Amino acid sequence: MALHTRLTDMLEIEHPVMLAGMGGVSYHRLVAAVSEAGGIGTFGASTMSVDELPREMALVRQATSKPFGVDLLTAMPGQVEAGIQAVIDGGARIFVAGLGVPREVIDLLHDHNVLVGSMCGKVRHAVGAVASGVDFVVAQGTEGGGHTGVVATMALVPQVVDAVGDKVPVVAAGGLYDGRGLAASLALGADGVWVGTRFIATPEARAVAGYKDTLLGMREDDTVISRAYTGKTCRVVRNEWTKHYESNPADLLPFPGQAVASTRAGVNHLGAEDGTIVDVSREFMPAGQGVGGFDSLVPAADIVRSMVAEAERTLERIAAVRR
Ligand SMILES: Cc1cc2nc3c(=O)[nH]c(=O)nc-3n(C[C@H](O)[C@H](O)[C@H](O)COP(=O)(O)O)c2cc1C
Repeated sequence: MALHTRLTDMLEIEHPVMLAGMGGVSYHRLVAAVSEAGGIGTFGASTMSVDELPREMALVRQATSKPFGVDLLTAMPGQVEAGIQAVIDGGARIFVAGLGVPREVIDLLHDHNVLVGSMCGKVRHAVGAVASGVDFVVAQGTEGGGHTGVVATMALVPQVVDAVGDKVPVVAAGGLYDGRGLAASLALGADGVWVGTRFIATPEARAVAGYKDTLLGMREDDTVISRAYTGKTCRVVRNEWTKHYESNPADLLPFPGQAVASTRAGVNHLGAEDGTIVDVSREFMPAGQGVGGFDSLVPAADIVRSMVAEAERTLERIAAVRR
C-alpha cells in the first residue's frame, strides 16, 4: 500500500512527506536522506552563503538521484535574487519561498522546470500566491517551529484547501511529527505534510551543540513565539533570552535588525558549523509544539517510513470506525 496524492504525482516522489527547508538545519545529509527515503528533502538555504548552496546541492546529487528542493526567504533583501541561479543550475526540482511570494522569479523557475511553492500562514497569503502562479502552497499553522503566524494548523489547512485546493496541491505544516499528523492532514484535504522540528532530532540534521538534546527533553508547552532573535514572530525554545524580551519588549528592533543584534550578542548561530559550542540557555533554537511528542534521535529515513506506515494504520483504523 502507498499514500498516493497530487503531491506525489506532481513531484514524482513515493511518499507525501516533505522535509521543511529549515535554515541552519536542512543541509545536504538531511536533504539527501529524506529524498532517498522517498519523501523530498528541501534545503534551508536562508543561512547559506552564495558559495555554499552550490556545494551543498552537489553533495546531494552525489548521494541521491531523487528530487530535492531549496527554500529561501523572500523577505531577506536580495536573498532570492542572489540564490535563484544556483537553485536552477544545481538541479533543484522545487523552490519554496518563506516570508513572501517570489513573484519576480516564478516565470524564470518555470522556464527551467523548477516547481514553486509558497509558505502561507493565512488564507489570503495562499490566494495571492496561487494568483501569482505558484504550483503548490504550504499552509503552516502557528504550532510550527520558526517564523510563524497566529492561525492553528487544524483551522488553517481546511480553509486553505477550500480557497485554493481546486487549483494546486496544499501541503500541511506546523506541529506535525508522526503518521497520525500525516493522516489527519490528508483528512483535512491536504496532499502531504511539510515537517520541520521532528527532523531536527536526527543524526543527519545540522545543529549547534545541545540543540537536539534540548528538543528531546522538552514538553509541548516549552516553546514560545518571540521576536527576540529576528524581529519577526518566530516559534523557538523558551529560554533566558526570550524571557528578557518578554519583559522588555521596547528593546526589540524590527526585522532584520534584531537578527543582527542577536548575532552580535552571540545568541544566534543558525547556520554555524555542526556542533558549534553555544550557550543553550540563550541560543536561537526554533522549534514547534510537536516537540513534546518524541524523545529520541531517529535516522531521517526511519522517520519518513514510520510516518507513512503509521498514517496507513491510522487511515485503516478510521475506516473501521464506520463499520
Ligand atoms: C530550525 C528551523 C528553521 C526554519 N527555517 C525556515 C526557513 O529558513 N524558511 C522557511 O520557509 N521556513 C523555515 N522554518 C519553518 C519550516 O519551514 C516549517 O514550516 C516548520 O518547521 C513546520 O513546523 P514544525 O517545526 O512543527 O514541523 C524553520 C523551522 C525551524 C524549526
